[in-house]
Amino acid sequence: MHTPVLLKEVVEYLAPKPGQKFIDATVDGGGHAEAVLERILPGGTLLGIDLDGELITRLKFKIQDSKFKNNAILINDSYVNLKKIAEENDFAGIDGILFDLGMSSWHMEEAGRGFSFQRDERLDMRFAYGQLAVNKKQLTAEEVINKYSYDELVRILKEYGEERFAKSIAARIVKARREKPVKTTFELVEIIKNSVPFWYRRSRIHFATRTFQAIRIAVNDELENLKSGLEQGVEILKAGGRIAVISFHSLEDRITKNFFRVKAKEGVIKIITKKPIGAGLAEVVQNPRARSAKLRVAEREYLGLDK
Ligand SMILES: C[S@@+](CC[C@H](N)C(=O)[O-])C[C@H]1O[C@@H](n2cnc3c(N)ncnc32)[C@H](O)[C@@H]1O
Repeated sequence: MHTPVLLKEVVEYLAPKPGQKFIDATVDGGGHAEAVLERILPGGTLLGIDLDGELITRLKFKIQDSKFKNNAILINDSYVNLKKIAEENDFAGIDGILFDLGMSSWHMEEAGRGFSFQRDERLDMRFAYGQLAVNKKQLTAEEVINKYSYDELVRILKEYGEERFAKSIAARIVKARREKPVKTTFELVEIIKNSVPFWYRRSRIHFATRTFQAIRIAVNDELENLKSGLEQGVEILKAGGRIAVISFHSLEDRITKNFFRVKAKEGVIKIITKKPIGAGLAEVVQNPRARSAKLRVAEREYLGLDK
């Protein structure tokens, strides 16, 4: 079960009220969604989106017998199609939207798709998955590792992982796959281990963290998706509506920060959190995943006609 991060803060900043309309663009196990639903009853509705069809199926099952069953719409799609999904479901002009980025604990621990370097699994790393996959032609981690050129691998590891040993890791991947294709997470971990100095193997952050992050971002095109999702999220907010974004690494946070700045300069939004909100010590102790979480919130301005 995924523990929602910064739950109290999200509820405080989005301030959901009875009768309102909200979108959870990354609904997953419904942790934040449930807290929002609790506050928009009676009369309110929540549209939950997730790229992972397995998670949407599970959540539909969970909700069907709950008190929220008539107040939640769940859609398996990417928030890249946010505006279209919102319009189709009568959700253009909403009171708030949440993006809680990246993967959930379920992906790490149960999905069996190679998201975690601590489990020996097939290298897949797609959020859109199986029969319910939105984009069936999407690359897998195995294809990225075995087909991308040395230069492309270096770029990905540097850009998406900020990995200082990008060149030596990419070189070893290319060398290893000449002998036989790299198919599993543990094979990749072994390659990384042999590409980095001894001290790096013993540092506080596991030596495979950055490579795994980089490959996952590449497989799911996460940074481009985020830019597009944020743009559409602001567009469908009604005046006074709020957008909240929880990010887990500096790349996502930078995109959010810059996007908010540009939109604030254009007079489209007002930034509510001058500095990002992090988790308190008590939450981090209970949920180590919260350690790197950063929440940024902005509010849609009144723009003449859309009052
Ligand atoms: C950190 S989890 C969200 C957790 C959720 N807020 C909760 O508390 O239960 C992020 C979710 O975003 C989903 N996701 C990733 N990229 C997406 C995209 N482009 N569109 C929609 N969902 C996406 C993942 O499948 C994952 O379930």
